[in-house]
Parts: sequence; C-alpha cells; structure tokens
Amino acid sequence: MSHPVLWNLDPHTAAKHRVLRSYVEAWIPVMAQQALSVAHVERPRLLLIDGFAGPGRYSGGGPGSPLIMLDVLLNHAAFPRLGGVNFMFLFIEHDERRVAHLREEISALGTLPPNVSVTIECGEFDETFGALLDSATDDGRILVPTFAFIDPFGYSTASMTLAGRLLNFPRCEVLFFLPLSFVHRFVGRAGQESALNSLYGCEDWREAIDLQGDERRAFLLELFEAQLAKSAGVKHVRSFQLRTQDGEDYRLVFGLGHRKGLEIAKDAMWAVDPLTGASYRATTESGQEVLFGAADTVSTVPLLDELRARFGRDWFTIVQAEDCTVLDTPFRVGQLRRRTLQPAEKVGVLEVTRPGRTGFVDARLRFIA
Ligand SMILES: C[S@@+](CC[C@H](N)C(=O)[O-])C[C@H]1O[C@@H](n2cnc3c(N)ncnc32)[C@H](O)[C@@H]1O
Repeated sequence: MSHPVLWNLDPHTAAKHRVLRSYVEAWIPVMAQQALSVAHVERPRLLLIDGFAGPGRYSGGGPGSPLIMLDVLLNHAAFPRLGGVNFMFLFIEHDERRVAHLREEISALGTLPPNVSVTIECGEFDETFGALLDSATDDGRILVPTFAFIDPFGYSTASMTLAGRLLNFPRCEVLFFLPLSFVHRFVGRAGQESALNSLYGCEDWREAIDLQGDERRAFLLELFEAQLAKSAGVKHVRSFQLRTQDGEDYRLVFGLGHRKGLEIAKDAMWAVDPLTGASYRATTESGQEVLFGAADTVSTVPLLDELRARFGRDWFTIVQAEDCTVLDTPFRVGQLRRRTLQPAEKVGVLEVTRPGRTGFVDARLRFIA
C-alpha cells in the first residue's frame, strides 16, 4: 500500500530542480560519449549520486531530485544509443520514512532498462559517501565519472572534506545547494563550530564573526568557493544566487573538473526561466551584476564591458573572446557573437578586420570606443 505524500516543496525547490534537470540533461550525453570513447580501457560507467535524496515526491505530486535525475536519463533523446554505458544511481537518505517513500516511487517506475541500476542507502551522508570514496581508492581504483548533487536541509551535514575528496578524482562534478543565509545566521553562535569546520574543511570561517551583513555573506561564500577550488580535480567553481520571496539567500555552487562542465553549468543556468519571486544572478570577473532572465530580455552589456576591460585597445581573436566569456563571465558563448559583438561592430564600438570571410572566424577585433 502506498504512503500518503507528507512533504511539501520549499518555495525555492522548483527553481533548484530546474537547474538540476538542465545540468544532468547536458551532462549525460557528454560524459557517456566520453566513457564510450575509452571503452577499450575501462567499462563505460557513470555514477549519479544524490547525497540528500529526500522522499522522491512531494505533496502536490512534484518529483524530488532522485526521480528527476532518473526521468532525465530514461527520457533522454540520446538514451537509446547509450546502451553500452552503465548508469548507476546512488541515493542516500537518513530518514527511514523518506527512504520508504522513495523506494515506492522507484518501484513504481517498473523494471528499469538493464544498463540502469539504482541503489538506495538508508544512512548518514558522511558515512555512506565516505565509505564509497574509501572503496574507490582502496586498491588504487579510480572512481567512475561522477556527478554528485549535495543538497542538505541545513549545512551541518555536508562535509567539504568529503566533497573535496570526490573532486580529487578526475571527471567528477559536484553541485552544492548552499543555504548561505543559514550559514550567515549561525556563524558566531555557540555549538556550531564543528558543523562549520565540517562544511568548510577549515577554521577560517571564524573570520566572518566580526563581519556584518553583505560583507559577512560575501566572505562566507568566497571561502566556500575557495575551499572547493583547492581540490585537485576542480578547474572551475561557479556559484549562482537564488533569490526567493521569503528573503533567504541560497546559492547553487558548481565544482567542475573541466571546461565542458562549466559550459554545461552555464547552459543549465540560462535554461532556467525566472520564476515568480525567484531569479538568479551572478557577477562578472570585474564585479558587474548579471540578472538571468528570458534569453531575449537579458542585457549583454556587462559581457561587452568585461571584454573591454580584458583587451583594452589591443587586438583580440574570437577564440580569446570566447575564453573570456566562458571563464570570466556568467554568459554563454552562444550570447557572444550575434547578441554582443555584432551590435557593437554595427554602432562603431568595435573594429573588425576580416581576411575575406564574413563572421568572426579568423577575424581580428579591437575596441575603438
Ligand atoms: C533538502 S532535502 C533534499 C531534497 C531532495 N534533494 C530534493 O530535491 O527532492 C534534505 C534531505 O536530506 C536528508 N538528510 C538530512 N541530513 C542527512 C544526512 N546526514 N544524511 C543523509 N540524509 C540526510 C533529510 O531527511 C532530507 O530528506
């Protein structure tokens, strides 16, 4: 007999789920293709972990993150040609009732394709995830390419040390949901020390105690990002703010092992339309704020400014402009040419020399105003 669904969706969860869906959607074919390309060396396998899985479905019928990840895979246009890849899902949840509900939801999916397996562990994230990492390194084996979604209620159970260990493996990506408001609030309160040590993997968070407001928030976020970036496998750390009507400040923080992962993360962010009362924002390298919105309403002026700040009056190529876009701004490469460079050329801000061809391939560009 099925249990009633007792759990409500938090106001920010729908937006969070859309980012997750969008990221996994893009991650699967890229990583699967990569796994297939080295099939002669290792069995093509991908691991998707939900470290704080929840009940699987909420009142109102909305799916939780484990069902979202599975749904993305099973309905993916690329799935029929990925029969040679084993997809392993690991869902960790410590609340027995939530686990029972999650099991029912997974069973209701029926028999899964033979290359898809689901393991549900009823246990503490730290122990279960730690044991997985131990077993992956015990005999020198390398963990399979992994995506981990780490989405605790509060912050006290997500350990930076563990995430850092995962991220030391090649081809692993982590998406953290960081409830920054809560961290901000609890810094300086007695009894939070070990949780904060665990979250940050160091004691530097103590410096935030003397700070207030935005300064404290910025410090705590930057420290989190810096700690994540210390992991050997992490090439890029990107965070996005999720603003909600309830006034809380949540961050989605990606720890990414390769540039393609970064491009996927950006696509995921831009694919999420603003919801009522929730929007995303990020800043460029030089601090300009970018508000995410419907593609045609977004101003790319901060991107043009960032390029100007980077290249000044020097000549640059489209490849250099793309690198700057991907690495130093929240914008996507797809927003560079037609939305940013072409209009700038048209109004005489940008000089472009082309050796014959139209477009920007082989072109040299420089700002003249
Ligand atoms: C924010 S909810 C997760 C929601 C889920 N990711 C989703 O999007 O549908 C956090 C979940 O983590 C579980 N949890 C909290 N601490 C945990 C721990 N130390 N180990 C495993 N699960 C934990 C809670 O019971 C709760 O279901």
